[in-house]
Amino acid sequence: MAEFLLQSDITEICERLGDAAHDFAGKTVLLTGGRGFLGRYFMEIFAHLNANILKKPVTLVAADNLISAGKEGARVTDYPHTTFLQHDVIQPMKWKGKLDYVIHAAGIASPFYYRAYPLETLEVAITGTRNMLKLATEHNARLTFFSSSEIYGDPDAKHVPTPESYRGHVSCQGPRACYDESKRVGETLCYIFHGEHGTATNTIRPFNVFGPGMQETDYRVLPNFANRIKAGLPLNVYGSGNQTRTFCYITDAMVGFLLVILKGVPGEAYNIGNPKPEISMVELVQRIEAVTGKPVAHNIIEYPDSYPADEPNRRCPDIKKARLQLKFEPHVDLNEGLKRFLTWADGVYTGEQ
Ligand SMILES: NC(=O)c1ccc[n+]([C@@H]2O[C@H](COP(=O)([O-])OP(=O)(O)OC[C@H]3O[C@@H](n4cnc5c(N)ncnc54)[C@H](O)[C@@H]3O)[C@@H](O)[C@H]2O)c1
Repeated sequence: MAEFLLQSDITEICERLGDAAHDFAGKTVLLTGGRGFLGRYFMEIFAHLNANILKKPVTLVAADNLISAGKEGARVTDYPHTTFLQHDVIQPMKWKGKLDYVIHAAGIASPFYYRAYPLETLEVAITGTRNMLKLATEHNARLTFFSSSEIYGDPDAKHVPTPESYRGHVSCQGPRACYDESKRVGETLCYIFHGEHGTATNTIRPFNVFGPGMQETDYRVLPNFANRIKAGLPLNVYGSGNQTRTFCYITDAMVGFLLVILKGVPGEAYNIGNPKPEISMVELVQRIEAVTGKPVAHNIIEYPDSYPADEPNRRCPDIKKARLQLKFEPHVDLNEGLKRFLTWADGVYTGEQ
């Protein structure tokens, strides 16, 4: 039974993965950031595959230092064939025995947290990635690094939707630089290990994934909005409200991530997201009104000190590469995803500010 997530979503992800899931049978996976938003999905998916689908179980070792894992992250469920280690990936990790896949999802992903922990944000993507690449290389394992769409910075209009070949327009001296620049270096490390040592590396650039499991203390835009709706407060839209994003529902994203982990061409980076619709934050509020069928008040306010300004004006992925090479296709449209997320959040959020 999925903890704090929707069991129907976990089942949907495993079913959509189809035969590809059998590649995990009998394999050993090291997952970093195992108690974060995406990490908890991976843990539930492997538990579901072991219980229902695989003939030989996958052995999962999940590591997390719990720096931004929140209340739910700290509550670790005991599953067969799964071990949890409270470990900081900035420290070297010793590994005895075999290792087939390394999923390096540790990171400080929410702008609120990387504003609070800039050096930790930098280190997990650089030193942490290097430590994981060393382990993967020693064990001849495939490694997937979770980078970010933020490596593109603020692309100009002719590079939106943004393909993997776009080189980025990023500031090395701003409130977001600790995240954007360290993810770029993490990708460079993957490139070097692939070129110098032949390590089978892949990089994933997720574009605004959302869904059940995002905690109210996450502070990314959708949990923020859902929490204020629960509290009966107007939504706060930062900046002009015209900045755009594309939101990818968690089941689509997890299928895409798993396809990269299993089938990605070594050395390659993949955008994973849903290119439609690209909407502004004000339009997002209107969508929420349409989905909930209730008016939702909002204020357009200055960026608070706790949130790093200088955010990209537009973000929208070109996913042709994942479509062609991995047969990745998002299925859940934004209204349906919002409906699942907001219904879930209404049931579990407390509305505490
Ligand atoms: N969710 C998204 O939409 C999204 C978008 C772009 C990139 N990403 C990247 O994907 C990865 C997972 O994202 P998420 O949404 O689950 O983030 P998250 O913040 O919910 O989870 C990350 C986890 O990593 C752990 N962690 C941080 N530093 C660590 C360290 N030094 N050692 C061990 N564990 C550490 C945290 O405690 C947390 O549990 C991150 O690297 C993030 O940057 C996610």
